[in-house]
Amino acid sequence: MENFTFYSPTFFAFGKNAEADTGKYVKRFGGSRVLIHYGGGSIVRSGLLDRVKASLEKEGIPFTELGGVKPNPRSGLVYEGIELCRKENVDFILAVGGGSTIDSSKAIAAGVPYDGDFWDFYQGKAIEKALPVGTVLTIAAAGSEGSPDSVITKEEGMFKRGTGSDLIRPKFSILNPELTQTLPAYQTAAGATDIMAHLYERYLTNSTEVEVTDRLIEALLLTMKYETPRVIANPDNYEARANIMWAGMMAHNNSCGVGRSQDWNSHDIEHELSALYDCAHGAGLAVTMPAVFKYVMNHNVMRFAQVAVRVWGCEMNFDHPEMTALEGIEAFKNFLKSIGMPVNFEELGAREEDIPKLVDVLCHGNGRNGTLSGFVTLNEEDCTKIYQMMVRG
Ligand code: NZQ
Ligand code: ZN
Repeated sequence: MENFTFYSPTFFAFGKNAEADTGKYVKRFGGSRVLIHYGGGSIVRSGLLDRVKASLEKEGIPFTELGGVKPNPRSGLVYEGIELCRKENVDFILAVGGGSTIDSSKAIAAGVPYDGDFWDFYQGKAIEKALPVGTVLTIAAAGSEGSPDSVITKEEGMFKRGTGSDLIRPKFSILNPELTQTLPAYQTAAGATDIMAHLYERYLTNSTEVEVTDRLIEALLLTMKYETPRVIANPDNYEARANIMWAGMMAHNNSCGVGRSQDWNSHDIEHELSALYDCAHGAGLAVTMPAVFKYVMNHNVMRFAQVAVRVWGCEMNFDHPEMTALEGIEAFKNFLKSIGMPVNFEELGAREEDIPKLVDVLCHGNGRNGTLSGFVTLNEEDCTKIYQMMVRG
């Protein structure tokens, strides 16, 4: 296990009707003028926005609103949010929605006290100050409710890039599994895929003797394997929704990633797909992961064989561990298919002729140096081959 620091001070309120206390939590964490930031309208239709506003009013907290965050959130609305917060003297950002809304909120939070262009933070500059952020989560997926990360797409060039800082970790996050019951099955499945991806990205490590985090990851993958089909079959299954929601937080607040190197190449390769085709991030990952895993498998075949046995129930072939590894990857792919995820370019809406463009932005866009580092370092040729493998799935 490698040395690490871990600081994860988000306060979580979990369970039925938890959002009724939103105003109390805003007050507790220092907010006195709030921006309520949200997406394309699901929280308006479900009545959640009204309930959150009522909770703020009950505590006498003034607020202003900015809706319209799109999945794969764009920089344009972030600039708008920063201006609005400055004009209204906002001192607290309340994200009500999914990962996209939370990430846009984090970007606004970092941008308000900063003199320059907030995009600097998405090009490697460290965040030094940010407004506090709180969240009311409506989809179990990105894990942004407990993570220090934010991913934004810059319209000029359609670069989808991330930043990270403990300063933008939410001060509190409200997780009521009931709020996720209105999700369409496809979004539920895409969210589950993203959660599993966050676990796999940490499982693919070059660190040794990391038993505790290996076992935590396996437990969470097993939970997702069990609960996701239950929720697809019955969207109102509260207990399954609850387990998935907490698994989503645990998968990405890095409690499973400390003390070990991590991969993240599947995420980088996917981000170009959701930037170009505006697909759901989880759906893009469903197409990406099996191809990446097959491509890098021989780097440490026992890692893939281990997850195949412990999570996917494959029998260990000691003479040919690569067969076990491959069987595990196939089992994962079949699982993704069974929950309604795409597994090739066509099903995702991606085009083979775009591969050179995808590789160019992936390897060189926004200041990249031509390679992706991770479990295995990938160059342009590797990335081209991986996208080609994804064409047919
Ligand atoms: O916009 P509204 O109308 O709210 O609809 C959303 C959106 O269309 C809908 N939705 C959310 N909750 C709902 C609901 N519809 C009905 N009922 C509900 N309860 O679902 C759609 C997707 O929402 P979005 O916020 O985009 O989903 P998700 O949480 O998957 O976030 C995806 C974004 O997070 C980034 C991804 O790249 C992508 O941009 N990520 C952020 C990470 C982080 N900050 O730590 C890590 C991840 O790896 C990921 O990259
Ligand atoms: Zn993700």
